[in-house]
Amino acid sequence: MPAFTDPSQQSPSDQALIHPTSAPAFDGALPIRVGVMASGNGSNFEALATAIRDRRINAEIALLVVNNPGCGAQHRAERRGIPWQLINHRDYDSRTALDRDLVDRFRTAEVEGIVMAGWMRIVTGELIKAFPDRLINIHPSLLPSFRGLDGVGQALKAGVRLAGCTVHLVTEDLDAGPILVQAAVPVLETDDHDSLSKRIQLQEHRILPSGLMLAAQRWRQG
Ligand code: GAR
Repeated sequence: MPAFTDPSQQSPSDQALIHPTSAPAFDGALPIRVGVMASGNGSNFEALATAIRDRRINAEIALLVVNNPGCGAQHRAERRGIPWQLINHRDYDSRTALDRDLVDRFRTAEVEGIVMAGWMRIVTGELIKAFPDRLINIHPSLLPSFRGLDGVGQALKAGVRLAGCTVHLVTEDLDAGPILVQAAVPVLETDDHDSLSKRIQLQEHRILPSGLMLAAQRWRQG
């Protein structure tokens, strides 16, 4: 299985510092069976699916759950023939009821862990306790800075010179679980929200697959 791309191979405009730079390959082992949750465009879901297809990581997506009917992630799954289901949050009385259903679906799909790839809902203890240390999230900031909504906007407003993204384990404290992997992205003088978001997303697509494998190392040792 090929190693992850060396960050020094990036074009200057994409330059980022990623740490750690490699993750376990699980060569010869059964693929890591994961569920994915997504709310919107689904570019991170697609990055994961591409890393799997290209055999950069040894995993399989057993189920994608989306909460917005017809969202980009759903269409990407349809195009790739990946099983997906809709859990529309508008149909539930409470966050807990929605998360209970998520637990049922992912248990039925027999996943080892779950990736929140742009899931724009707060998750409750109902889900987190059902999959302790088996839920990972991607967030568009260098945590612990800029937790919560619009990490990119918060970074621009604060005037930081380095922004970035983080893959971390999910705990009941919002965006505060143990960090698995991060990429630091320079903020350019010319950046606006759109341009910085795009460069951060490029790095998200690189660190999410390696973050998954770093988490899976814990799951397989567990
Ligand atoms: C990503 O940038 C991800 O970091 C962010 O949503 C975007 C989803 O993009 N997640 C959060 O802000 C969670 N707090 P995508 O749908 O193209 O993968």
